[in-house]
Amino acid sequence: MIRFITFEGGDGTGKTTQLKALESHLQSKGCSCVSTREPGGTSLGKLIRQLLLEVGNQAIASPTELFLYLADRAQHVQEVILPAIDGGKIVLCDRYTDSTLAYQGYGRGIDFDLLRQLNQFANRGVKPDLTLLLDCPVELGLSRTAQRQSNAGSARGREDRFEREKVEFHEKVRAGFLAMARAEPERFRVIDAARPMEQVSREIQIIVDREMG
Ligand code: TYD
Repeated sequence: MIRFITFEGGDGTGKTTQLKALESHLQSKGCSCVSTREPGGTSLGKLIRQLLLEVGNQAIASPTELFLYLADRAQHVQEVILPAIDGGKIVLCDRYTDSTLAYQGYGRGIDFDLLRQLNQFANRGVKPDLTLLLDCPVELGLSRTAQRQSNAGSARGREDRFEREKVEFHEKVRAGFLAMARAEPERFRVIDAARPMEQVSREIQIIVDREMG
């Protein structure tokens, strides 16, 4: 039974839009969903998110960054994810533990065994039933993010810390996500997110409908 679906992928792959589209699709079939995100899925998490993503942050040490994501997750699992699953809802989550492995592990180079143990502690063993990995070339993702910011009328200074990272960093993150998907094909579905939004939504609906039986 599918109860917990995560959306993963690099910056600008369209996770947030696709999560909303899937939520509408499931609701139209009469399913009760809870849509949430990391970081920032709780009120405490929103404060952590600000610390992590806002411009003007001081340089952040890798362990500090890691512990902030984990702190956000621990609160999120306890306050939102577990109660929703226990209440019979389908949880749709924009990023989860795989983002920590991709960004802090493949991207920053923190040891994977350590990350897995810490993830396990933070998420109390709650694992997604299905992970939709939205994959597209790094350049495309970054140009979509830049476009989104200029549409929102924001100056370049509004970019968050990760968007300022070099392309090389994002390439490592992308390769990391793809390696994780290969290692766990029963949980992951890799979706070509370079295509138009409607095509991607359609594929996701087909996958989820099939999985839900
Ligand atoms: P967000 O604005 O949610 O990015 P996007 O819209 O691309 O999903 O910012 C989340 C950022 O935090 C994103 O760049 C990835 C990063 N992140 C980690 O590095 N580790 C984590 O464990 C999580 C959950 C996110």
